[in-house]
Amino acid sequence: MNPNRVTPNKFRSLIKITSLGVATFSAVCLCRSNEKFYDRMFMPIVRLIPPETAHRIAVFSVKLGLIRPSYQDPGILRTKLLDMTLSNPVGIAAGFDKQGEAVCGLNRLGFGFVEVGSVTPKPQPGNPRPRVFRLNEDKAIVNRYGFNSDGHKVVYERLRKAREECGDEVVLGINLGKNKLSTDAIGDYVKGVKKFSCLADYLVINISSPNTPGLRSMQNKSTLHMLLSDVLKARSSLPETDRRPILVKLAPDLSDEDVQEVIAVVKDKECAVDGLIVSNTTIERPPSLKSINAGQLGGLSGVPLSQRSTQLVAKVYKWTDGKIPIIGVGGIFSGQDAFDKILAGASAVQLYTAFIYHGPPIAIRVKRELEQLLQDNGYESVQQAVGKGVDHFL
Ligand SMILES: Cc1cc2nc3c(=O)[nH]c(=O)nc-3n(C[C@H](O)[C@H](O)[C@H](O)COP(=O)(O)O)c2cc1C
Repeated sequence: MNPNRVTPNKFRSLIKITSLGVATFSAVCLCRSNEKFYDRMFMPIVRLIPPETAHRIAVFSVKLGLIRPSYQDPGILRTKLLDMTLSNPVGIAAGFDKQGEAVCGLNRLGFGFVEVGSVTPKPQPGNPRPRVFRLNEDKAIVNRYGFNSDGHKVVYERLRKAREECGDEVVLGINLGKNKLSTDAIGDYVKGVKKFSCLADYLVINISSPNTPGLRSMQNKSTLHMLLSDVLKARSSLPETDRRPILVKLAPDLSDEDVQEVIAVVKDKECAVDGLIVSNTTIERPPSLKSINAGQLGGLSGVPLSQRSTQLVAKVYKWTDGKIPIIGVGGIFSGQDAFDKILAGASAVQLYTAFIYHGPPIAIRVKRELEQLLQDNGYESVQQAVGKGVDHFL
């Protein structure tokens, strides 16, 4: 008998060994957060899965904590935001971990800070599905989740456990929303401040999601004044050790007049919040959009939002004389995008849509490129660059 002949048994063994090899290689690439593997092999497969299912799988995978990229934040990325020290200025924006399930996993992926939520006081299901849409050709997403939330009680318990698990290692933002059918919107935010202050490093008053009827009108001068003064009073009523910085998240669709009104409110002593997050998703649809899903109702995020949000960061920085810290968010896919937001006036940045398109390696890519850009432009720290290009972006 010819010893080189491939018998059915030998053939089966060969297939098994090859499959095992491919599976091991893929697992190593996934866990080590290999950029090329994610971009060329893994993310194209993920895009075959409906977006909300893919989102749930992503949260579950991050929660398992198996993905551990090999990148140490260099000293140049270490920075200050409010009174917090961040090992790098790139955070994960609200909306990825709405229910506070994957805080420690997100921290391990290398995000400099993690914002969970939006969380509403009572649990609520959000809008009917489908409610998330990929705009692949535009590197964008339209979502109309509508604050699907497990509610304060459940999210609080999860975050308490996360604090036990990864302690003070993680810089944790908690983004607060209101229930769709609430008759006391301001009361909902006050409840959020009282409930989560002891767990959070900062809190966000989100009045800019386009998917809860009437929410964005809370950015109007008189309502905003009542809201912020009540929220700040609630904070003052807490023990001193539990008082946390409070930020307000703004919509990119505000007119210049609206933005100036918001700034006038937050400059008032009674309403002096600690920072602004610029920006949420937009209801505008730039004519350049190519994707079939561009007409879906909801908030648009990703590349088409990038310039608009950077311009708003610059306006807010200029009109507040750089005195109110800004977190810049909207369409950050690269170190250059992050650098632009910083030059426009952001002290730190966040991303979400780029994570949907590129997976976990995006955090490292943005950080590595930002590190290079800071060095190439002669900056010794992120703080040195904040607002240095503001006029260019107006
Ligand atoms: C699917 C999805 C859900 C979101 N949910 C929230 C949310 O619950 N609360 C919030 O403040 N922002 C939410 N956002 C907005 C993001 O935090 C961010 O402001 C916006 O997407 C712009 O950043 P990006 O272009 O990097 O995604 C959501 C965004 C997306 C894409």
